[in-house]
Amino acid sequence: MISEWIRGLPKAELHIHIEGSLEPELMFALADRHQMTLPYDSIEAAHQAYQFEDLQSFLDLYYAGANVLCTEQDFYDLTWAYLQRAQSQTVRHTEIFFDPQTHTQRGIPFKTVITGIHQALVDGQTQLGISSCLIMCFLRHLSAEEAMKTLEEALPYQDWIVAVGLDSSEFGHPPSKFSAVFDQARSHGFLTVAHAGEEGPPEYIWEALKLLQVARIDHGVRSPEDPKLMVWLKEHQIPLTVCPLSNVKLCVFETLKEHPLKQLLDAGLRVTVNSDDPAYFGGYLQENFMAIYEALNLSQQDLYQLAKNSFLSAFLSESEKQAAIAELESYMYPNRQ
Ligand code: HPA
Ligand code: ZN
Repeated sequence: MISEWIRGLPKAELHIHIEGSLEPELMFALADRHQMTLPYDSIEAAHQAYQFEDLQSFLDLYYAGANVLCTEQDFYDLTWAYLQRAQSQTVRHTEIFFDPQTHTQRGIPFKTVITGIHQALVDGQTQLGISSCLIMCFLRHLSAEEAMKTLEEALPYQDWIVAVGLDSSEFGHPPSKFSAVFDQARSHGFLTVAHAGEEGPPEYIWEALKLLQVARIDHGVRSPEDPKLMVWLKEHQIPLTVCPLSNVKLCVFETLKEHPLKQLLDAGLRVTVNSDDPAYFGGYLQENFMAIYEALNLSQQDLYQLAKNSFLSAFLSESEKQAAIAELESYMYPNRQ
């Protein structure tokens, strides 16, 4: 069965918002824990409400959902639930986004957020065998000054954070708005990534590359509109962390059949598959792989290449990448010596 083969395929996840892994079941449990009321009558009603017409209509529910996250234990439970799912799908390494401003704006201390997430990641390594790193995203609909303040708050925890990123409402908030913040982050030794070309134009991808000097582009699915950009992305092997189910749920493409993932892969770009906000978009990595396999007529070789790209694009050392790829190769070619 191809679905079981996909489940067992060793892989890395590079684009997952931890707040977007908040399943309605846990949302209700945390609401109970804090005697909060939710805008949904039932778990089923929450699932039913997850119909979006664009990025903003999703973000409105995503930020509302995150209101139940209050204590270190809540952030631990959220992250631990994700890691258990990931392990059941043979995710060997994961790079997790978190949005501190979503929480600090509500009065939750930065320390509470990061300590809960970090402790779960430590336990994920020791108890589940999943390696991980943490990427702190700035909310691009907020000001550059607020992002700079968030960066300063993060400095005492720098050992726990590998990179900074940029997420939230893309239109009208180009990467150039955050040039100074990203300069400052790089001067402290953070790597950089940015959401670009999800809803926004290829110009935003250029800005992320040139001004923010990103190591990867998150989404980047509008790249095919700019042939020069396609050449650049290929020549520099800039990874794209593509999220197929997300793009369809947010109406970036009408159906998966119109999704450019196969086109990008065939053009020689370093494409990876990711879940983005799995609790809201209909699935984790396994479900994303399965959906593109069916809709885009992918071969097993394509799936293998996507998994290999995930390790090549990760913030791992060369030797860690090679060890992960060796495991992947023996899975793909079990009869080879
Ligand atoms: N795009 C932008 N911001 C986000 C997303 C996304 O898909 N998910 C959570 N924050
Ligand atoms: Zn995202």
